Order: sequence, then structure tokens, then C-alpha cells
Amino acid sequence: VKKLTDLDVAGKRVFIRADLNVPQDDAGNITEDTRIRASIPSIKYALDGGAAVMVTSHLGRPTEGELKADDTLAPVAVRLGQLLHKPVRLVQNWVDGGVEVAPGEVVLLENCRCNKGEKKDNEELAKKMAALCDVYVNDAFGTAHRAEATTHGIARFAPVACAGILMGAEIDALGKALHAPKRPLVAIVGGSKVSSKLTILKSLADKVDQLIVGGGIANTFLLASGKRIGESLAEPDLVKEAHAIMDIMKARGAEVPLPTDVVVADEVSALARANKISVDDVSASDRILDIGPKSAARLGEIIANAGTIVWNGPVGVFELPQFAGGTKMLASAIAHSEAFSIAGGGDTLAAIAKFDIAGDVGYISTGGGAFLEFLEGKTLPAIAALEARFEN
Ligand code: 3PG
Repeated sequence: VKKLTDLDVAGKRVFIRADLNVPQDDAGNITEDTRIRASIPSIKYALDGGAAVMVTSHLGRPTEGELKADDTLAPVAVRLGQLLHKPVRLVQNWVDGGVEVAPGEVVLLENCRCNKGEKKDNEELAKKMAALCDVYVNDAFGTAHRAEATTHGIARFAPVACAGILMGAEIDALGKALHAPKRPLVAIVGGSKVSSKLTILKSLADKVDQLIVGGGIANTFLLASGKRIGESLAEPDLVKEAHAIMDIMKARGAEVPLPTDVVVADEVSALARANKISVDDVSASDRILDIGPKSAARLGEIIANAGTIVWNGPVGVFELPQFAGGTKMLASAIAHSEAFSIAGGGDTLAAIAKFDIAGDVGYISTGGGAFLEFLEGKTLPAIAALEARFEN
């Protein structure tokens, strides 16, 4: 794709689609601003290059055609202003009302998902938005899996369409990990349900050298390998699928290292008493809530020998200290590994924060759903739209 940093933007009207969809508390205070921070390099590049800068994003999932109090990007405008050290004016009714912005100035265009036709990628809306700018920049990797008017349609009609600095970094990091990895390539896919990650597991089964499964996903794989899992969370309906994935891996000479010891309790609660046992000793009333120390040590070895690591999802209920050991060890192994590592997804980012390893992960994706769809091997529509412009 074409990149913002290859362009001279002096005097140009630059429209940046960012993903500033950040969590807020009930009073409207931003509780986590990683995505706003991640959008700064592109905005600064355009400002420093002498462009008149318009930035927009969606916030939440509002009803189209309305702007309720919760939908406004006003708190984001304030935070952006603090990070850029300059005022950021919030512009309402920008599609039909037009946007006044001077070179060296940045404005934030109100929640783009409140515009009628945004979610359906309406062509007329996309053309109107394209007419506002000389250069369209997509820097919203977190929304790259959505074909909406600001992420997809506008890229067809804007005079120039390119990837922002964050988008470029995400594409490069994910591409490096999945399309040209240094081997062995190890993926860790944890979480509660095989069903929500089945496409990812199938896609990775064709690529990775070791597929580490964790959480409820691992339990379903244990069932598939004939183990008893007691009351553990699992999806018996998907045992066949789990089998098929293990067969694909085996046929390729690749491995799905299942836990040989586990941490069990009879309930998932802060007061639950944890027992470390062999996976062969799980009783009818046990719930498997973490991997045991032997399994953790084995995974540590695999990670230490990896060339590339892709991490999505914890291997235990790491929110509770007695079931956090496996995920903690995994985090520490990733932090100490020489491999290029990439991580993404809500739970994974929470684990990275909890075990304080953010500085030691090669790349942390800002994408939730977009990161998962990339792992599924899907073409993300926003990236495809930029590629299409590059080819023509
Ligand atoms: C996200 O938070 O994953 C992105 O901002 C996309 O949001 P959406 O799922 O509402 O499209």
C-alpha cells in the first residue's frame, strides 16, 4: 500500500480515519488511551508537513443519524489536544456542513458512525467525505475488518489514499509474523471457547510449528485426546474439529502440546482452593482452571526456542492469583525470548499489563477483532481498499 510517510502533504487537506474507540467510565472519562496515543505519529507527521488535518473515528456502536450524549468524541478531542499540545476543535455536522481547517491546524470530526450510511458503506456518503480532502489516510487498524464508508468506500474516491503510520506498522508486524516468519513459528491461542477461535485455529494449523492452546480451548482438545476433564469448561460438540486440527498438525510434523498437569478447583472463585494434579487424575467434580508447572515449563522451552511468537489469549483464569501461574510464566517466557513476538486481543493486553511485560513484546497490536481476523487469514477490507488504489 501507499504510505503517508512517502507523501509531501504541504498545503494539502489530509483526512485521517483513526480508531479512537477508547473505553470510558460512566462519567465519560477515558479509562485507557492507548489508541489515542497510537494515532499521534500520523497526525503529527501531517501537521509537521504543513497539512490542514481532519481526524475522525467511530466511538461505540451508535444509532445512525443521531448523536446521543454518550456518542460524542468530545473527551477524545480534549485528550488529543493534551497529547498534541495544541487545541483540537470538534466539528459537528461535517459531511454536509463542510470543514474549515487551515494548514498546521487539526480538527476532530464528530463520531463518523453517527452519519447515515457509514456502516453500510454508502457510496454517496463516501464520495461526499472524499470531496473534503486531497489525501485520505487510513490509520484505523482496529477497524480494518469493517467495510464502512470511512474505512472502505472513501478510499475509492479520495484523490490519494494511503496507510497511516500505525496502519503501516500493524501490517508490517503482522505480515512479518505470519507471512514471512522466522521459524519455529509458535502460536498461543487461549480463551474460553473453541467456537470463537475455530477459524483462527484452522488457519494457524497450516502455518505454525507449534500450536499452544489454553483455557477452555485446551479442555476441548484434551477431550479430543481422550482425557477426562470433569466439570471443566469445554465444547464437546467441537471435539471432532479439535481432532481434525491435531491431525493436520501431525501430518505436517507440527505439534499441539497439550497440558500434562493442570491446576484444578471445584469452583471459579477468589476463595477456591487450587490443586496441582496430573491431567490423568482429573475427577468428575474438578474444573481445570490453569496449566500446571510441568506443562508451563515445557511451554517455556518451546517459547525459548521459537523464532516467532503469535500470542492471543491466556492459558488460565489469570484474574485469580491461584490460577494465574501458567499465563504469568508464559508472559515471562515471551518477555525473555529472543523471538519476534506479536500479541493482540483484549484479554491478552490485560495479561500483558498485569504481568508488566509490554516493553518486552515485539509488537502489541491495537486491533481486537481486526487482529483476530488477520490471524484467521482473512483479507481485511480496509487494507484491501488501500491495496486496490495502489495497484491502479
Ligand atoms: C474495536 O474496538 O474492536 C474496534 O474499534 C472496532 O469496533 P466495532 O467492533 O464496533 O466495529
